[in-house]
Amino acid sequence: MKRTVILKVNSERPEMDKIRAAAKIIREGGLVAFPTETVYGLGADALNPEAVREIYTAKNRPLDNPIIVHISDKRDAYRLARELPENIDEIMRLWPGPLTVILKASEIVPRETTGGLDTVAIRMPSHKVALALIRESRVPIAAPSANLAGRPSPTTAEHVKQDLDGRIDMILDAGPTKIGVESTVVDLTSKPPRVLRPGGFPFEDLKCVIKDLRLYPSVMADREIRIEQPPSPGMKHRHYAPKAKLILVEGRMETLVDKIQELVNKYRCEKRRVGVLSTDETKHLYRADVVKSLGSRKDPACMAKNLFRLLREFDEEQVDVIIAEGVPMRNLGLAIMNRLRKASGFNIVKV
Ligand code: TXA
Ligand code: MG
Repeated sequence: MKRTVILKVNSERPEMDKIRAAAKIIREGGLVAFPTETVYGLGADALNPEAVREIYTAKNRPLDNPIIVHISDKRDAYRLARELPENIDEIMRLWPGPLTVILKASEIVPRETTGGLDTVAIRMPSHKVALALIRESRVPIAAPSANLAGRPSPTTAEHVKQDLDGRIDMILDAGPTKIGVESTVVDLTSKPPRVLRPGGFPFEDLKCVIKDLRLYPSVMADREIRIEQPPSPGMKHRHYAPKAKLILVEGRMETLVDKIQELVNKYRCEKRRVGVLSTDETKHLYRADVVKSLGSRKDPACMAKNLFRLLREFDEEQVDVIIAEGVPMRNLGLAIMNRLRKASGFNIVKV
């Protein structure tokens, strides 16, 4: 058991004494959870194999699931990767931001960080605390989301504490994260390039820069697809799961509501405590034990920001079943639906 120190940090003007204390831990091989614009990350020195191994232990993460390397200077991408595609400068112009690129790894990246693959995932986050920490550590920082494996990603320091208190050295608390879903992961080693995980950088916007960009089929999948050799090991692990059973109902808003209420009634007859994950437009229409709203259907960014927090809240309220409304797949809606479908274990009702 470690003593986990929690430091409040100003998200716009991070106090440098606190950043220095965190950077010292990183340099000495320890673990620091820190905010990014997407979700909180659990950081270690990406070039120190023992330190990276500690991340897997703290999270109970399967050892074959590689970790994103966070940089504060675009030039570091050239040290960490080789055989970069010719349009890489144009793509890196989208940094800092919620975009992770997969490139061929250089020999300085330990296999602990790449999960044994010959590629490396790299991203430059835009959060001031994240950038200050990487800069001050003077090493690239390997960081998966700072949750126990299989749990919803943390969007507040409190979520990190719930999962990792006593397992890591420090948590930098700069308040809730802005985007709320993880970065978009793009494989630039495949031809054509493919989105392996939809995320905070909308596909529509990315396609304006990477013209031949495709979505990897499982991104849109509404049922379990068996992939022999998934390009992203994260795809085969169970994800984003709240403790309660989650059922996702997809279809037009008008027909969704009746179906969801019917399911609520059925489970309540069986004496189960039922929660509904609704939207602002429909929230008032449900009668259930707990009803929460993601936000307006017209505002996918707002719904994305609330998603993981609400899944955790349902667990705190000890519901047995969560019935969730599907939302439109445009913009951040694609990332939301990808997370909800996985969280449901593809328990999807179409109406
Ligand atoms: O927004 C984010 O991306 C957050 C913050 C902390 O930056 N990080 C995050 O990391 O979500 P994690 O480990 O929870 O998800 C990383 C995903 C996993 O699905 C992993 O399998 C995939 O990226 N990945 C990492 N390196 C890869 C590689 N070399 N090839 C293919 N997939 C890779
Ligand atoms: Mg994760």
